[in-house]
Amino acid sequence: MLNFEFYNPTRILFGADTIAQITNHIPQDARVLMLYGGESARKNGTLTEIKEALGTREIHEFGGIEPNPSYETLIKAVELIREKKLDFLMAVGGGSVIDGTKFIAAAVNYEGDTWEILETRGAKITKALPFASVLTLPATGSEMNNGSVVTRKSTQAKLAFSSPHVFPQFSVLDPTKTYTLPKRQLANGVVDAFIHVMEQYMTYPVNAQVQDRFAEGLLQILIEIGPKVLEDSADYDTRANLMWTACMALNGLIGAGVPQDWSTHLIGHELTALYDIDHARTLAIVLPANLEVRRQEKREKLLQYAARVWQLTEGDEEHRIGTAIARTRDFFEQLGLPTRLADYQLNDTHIDTIIEQLKIHNLPQLGERKNVSLEVSRKILEASL
Ligand code: NZQ
Ligand code: ZN
Repeated sequence: MLNFEFYNPTRILFGADTIAQITNHIPQDARVLMLYGGESARKNGTLTEIKEALGTREIHEFGGIEPNPSYETLIKAVELIREKKLDFLMAVGGGSVIDGTKFIAAAVNYEGDTWEILETRGAKITKALPFASVLTLPATGSEMNNGSVVTRKSTQAKLAFSSPHVFPQFSVLDPTKTYTLPKRQLANGVVDAFIHVMEQYMTYPVNAQVQDRFAEGLLQILIEIGPKVLEDSADYDTRANLMWTACMALNGLIGAGVPQDWSTHLIGHELTALYDIDHARTLAIVLPANLEVRRQEKREKLLQYAARVWQLTEGDEEHRIGTAIARTRDFFEQLGLPTRLADYQLNDTHIDTIIEQLKIHNLPQLGERKNVSLEVSRKILEASL
């Protein structure tokens, strides 16, 4: 029986030249900190455009937030905000900058050790600074959700937290901002969004027709536009559809009231923390193996996925499931994402280390039924060699 609360307070400003509108949504006397990653946002003129839109407001800058943002870097922004008494954060970038900004927003007035925010998965956050984002990389959905993933480099811990206090107030989604993205990041974005849908859809049926059909629609769009996004001639509409699809994939809508898996992500986070593999690339390795290992418990949804997403309706059921998993793997490979640990020079000698990290991070029971024990995670990793 469906029974849920759905809440999402983030305003979306979607389209070309929407950065100019941000001035209408930030207090006139705001003391703003603009946060960004490496140099991409400066080089393509986005930082300047935002400064112009902010007009006479006081603006400070904090750059250098790295992909898979580190606690060690973010904590420096927290100190700057406290020192300069800044009160509005403007994240400019992809998931890493937006996630980092969520952590910073929650940490500034946090009582106690700020790493506890990650250790308690956000449960003790009672307030956060207001913040907004200008998205430059469609992938994570961070621009319209309240989740964040932060890495503590010193201990190789990549942990997630969420809180109702860290939804962005608004996010600018201007598809032209994706024009400078390298192909690798675009392909990563398509696959990350695809797997966000799968984590919320590929579980067991609960007769959630809206969530299922929406999820299947998003998967089909990604299959259709994935290769187009990578063409040199990619146009505004293709980028716009990617941007909105990735946003809808993880803004709470398709996940409302349904069982969710997330084991692919949690195993993937360990691979990034240990071996520095891009987030989406870890997922491309783990998901096909995960589906193979757990095909019995996911059988009903796998058949539905095979029929509705890949139009596989004929023949033996086991064969249909196998083909759907193979098509999924091929889709990732065609976009240039390898799907085997061996592609990253990892072999069975690394599996113990990965399992040990899951144990240390208190993740011995993953998945929609909490039955992905360390033993099952090991099987998944073995199947992805
Ligand atoms: O640092 P700069 O120079 O800006 O370059 C970035 C970065 O190197 C570059 N880039 C971004 N926009 C660009 C651009 N280059 C040229 N033109 C542009 N317009 O792209 C590189 C990767 O950026 P990053 O933000 O790291 O990528 P992504 O958006 O894929 O974010 C990944 C992070 O998000 C987390 C991941 O774990 C990872 O840490 N996730 C967050 C989620 C959430 N909050 O809900 C869910 C996801 O599952 C994911 O876990
Ligand atoms: Zn992801």
